[in-house]
Formats: sequence, structure tokens, C-alpha cells
Amino acid sequence: MKPETGVDRLNTLLESYLKIRRDSEKICEGLSAEDCQLQAMPDVSPPKWHLAHTSWFFERFLLRTGPDPTPPIPPLYDHLFNSYYETAGSFPPRAQRGLLSRPGLDEVIAWRHDVDRRILELSSDEKQGELHNSQILEIGLHHEQQHQELLLTDIKYNFFMQPFQPALGTTRNRKTDAHAPALRWERLPEGVHTIGHVKETFAFDNERPAHRIYINPVALASRPATNGEYLDFIRAGGYRQVELWLSEGWNWVRAHHLQQPLYWHYDDHHGWRQFTLHGWESLAMHEPVCHLSYFEADAFARWCGARLPTEQEWEVFARRRPLTGHFFDFSDLHPAPAHDDASQVYGDVWEWTSSSYAPYPGYQPLAGSLGEYNGKFMVNQYVLRGGSCATPWQHIRPSYRNFFPATARWQFTGVRLAKDLL
Ligand SMILES: [Fe+2]
Repeated sequence: MKPETGVDRLNTLLESYLKIRRDSEKICEGLSAEDCQLQAMPDVSPPKWHLAHTSWFFERFLLRTGPDPTPPIPPLYDHLFNSYYETAGSFPPRAQRGLLSRPGLDEVIAWRHDVDRRILELSSDEKQGELHNSQILEIGLHHEQQHQELLLTDIKYNFFMQPFQPALGTTRNRKTDAHAPALRWERLPEGVHTIGHVKETFAFDNERPAHRIYINPVALASRPATNGEYLDFIRAGGYRQVELWLSEGWNWVRAHHLQQPLYWHYDDHHGWRQFTLHGWESLAMHEPVCHLSYFEADAFARWCGARLPTEQEWEVFARRRPLTGHFFDFSDLHPAPAHDDASQVYGDVWEWTSSSYAPYPGYQPLAGSLGEYNGKFMVNQYVLRGGSCATPWQHIRPSYRNFFPATARWQFTGVRLAKDLL
């Protein structure tokens, strides 16, 4: 096979660039300019901000750093659409992103297209000479894919809080009578394994370096827990049994009067329903349960006589399985029951692990401002694995580490049980 040249690689990246940039705008096609302005809580961002910030990333880290840098964008854009890069300048508080009634949505879209035009121009020049910055172009693409998932989860939360509770998607043909496969316990091979990103292909710095770990006797559930199984936990009084909860989780559940996952609702007329990107739907018992916090996933696992897997156990389990599942590209943006006997280790729901988000042995952040991408968040968060129905398929891999605080539940977050065999 002919070896890939720098120009081949750039062409492949540019094809991905055009598709990924288009996909972000497609997600927002059904939204009005007013919808794109919503920020229903500090953790979510307005869709317009996502569309602008992803352009800022290319503008700030690629277009402005080449041998012939383009003139800087208006200084206020630089401030408004920087998320958290202290070494790249100032940025507004996250909770104030909803104040950005200006620039308008049309201006943001026009800026996006201008960035696209200049990226293509720059790439065309680069084909003539040394290819530098392709690494940043690639990071920018994976960054935008992360924001595509956030766009979907943030729109879902905004619409849930909006008085009309609109739907993003149209009504779907859902098989409410589909069955999840019976749960089996699958034993991992005890001993030394390697985890972390081992290939030359793209990975974020937090997935490196690959290193060895030891797996003790343990079994993981063959599929994620379902809505029906979680409903059993609720009906058994799971939210009222202090002994099931971590102390901080118990205080949090009581302070917020929580009795079910986010987006679930019960009334005598409809029974149990959940809010989805397609509006309100009856709760399908065999779909994977989602929108759980770490605290809820942990209490549920304890009630089951099990525990959450560590991220090392999860990765050893996942590496033995094909990278298939319900993703953004092929799903209707909601978790679905497994086909046949599939493990659903990828797609559908991010799976909470009991592992604190921490650097791997020998971790090295990227040089420069992009060193702020991951490393500085390695405290007070837990690792989630596997991707969800809102994750682009090409974005996920066995070593991928997502991370959120223990109370976060607006992402598509679920649970796979683990059991010690000692
Ligand atoms: Fe970002």
C-alpha cells in the first residue's frame, strides 16, 4: 500500500472538516434564533454560543498562528467566545453566555462560513509546502464533535425548562415492546493488562500514555441497566434509604427533593413518562436508563448488591468488543434496547465509572494554551466511558475518557454494574 503523504492526510482532514462543520449547523436547523439564545442553567450553553465558540477555536488556535496569520477578529469576539483558556486571553463567566443577544445568529453563522473559507484557503497554501498545524486542525475537529454532543444535551435541557417544552426531532417510530437481552455476568481475565491509547491515531492527551494495570477477579454486566430495573429501585424506596447513598449524595438528593432521574415524571393519567428530544414519551422499560448522576448510579449499584466498574475494568471489558452501537450518526437521539445480545458498551449511554478523573502515570499535557484542554480539570470529577446516542461515532474509541462532577445528569449518562468475584 502507498504510504500516506502529508497532502493525503490534509485532504482527509479537510473532508472531515466540511462534514463536521455542516453537522453542527444541521443540529440547529430546527431552532429559531430565540431558541439559540436559551441558557436554562449555568452548566448549559446557548446553541448560538456553541456555534460561535467552535469557530473561535479554529480562529484563535489555527488561523492566527500560521506563517501568515490572518488579521485578528473583533477583540470582543475573542473575549466572548473563549471558554476557559486563561493563557489565550479573557472570557466572560460561563453563566452569562445567555446574555449574548448580540452578535445575532445570522452574524455568527456568517462568521462560521468565513472561518471555513479561510481554513480552506490556508490548507490550499499548505499543500504547496510544509504541512504544519494539521495536529491543531484535527484537535479542532474532535473539539467540535464534543460540542455537537453538548449542543444536543443543552438543547434538551433548555427545551425541558422552556414553558412550551418543544421537541427538536419529529415523532419517531419507537419499538416500545422491544426487549433487552437477559443480564449476564461476564468475568474479566484476571492479571496484567494495558489500557490507554496505544495507536498512532488521534487521541486526547488525557488518554495517554498507555500503561499497565492489574485486574482482580471481577465480572461486568453484559449490558447497561434498564429503565425497568431502575424503576424497581425507585419502587423499593431507593431514594429514601440512607444506607444506599454516599453522604454527599444523600445530602444532595434531600436538598433537591430528588425521587427519579432527570426528565422522568409520573402522573396518574399518563403513568411514567420521560422528556426526550422528541418531546414527552411513555417510559419504555427495556431502554437503557439515562440522565443519572454519579450518586444515583452508585446508590442503584449498591441496591443491586453490585458496584460501579473502575475505568480500567471498563476498558478491558470494552477492548474485547466491536465498536458498534447507537450513536448520533445512526440513532434517533435516544437510547434504545440492545439488538440481540449486543453489550452496548459503545453508544446509547455514557457509563459512570468509580474512577476519579486523574492523570495517567507519565501524563504530559499538550504544549501551549491547548495544555489547558484537559489537565486542569483533573479534580472532583468522575470518568465516564463509551459514548452515547448523541456522540458522533467517529469520535469514540476504547480509551476515550469523558468526565463530569458527581451531580451532573443532563448528559446521556447511565450505568453498567460490576461485581467482585474475590
Ligand atoms: Fe470548547
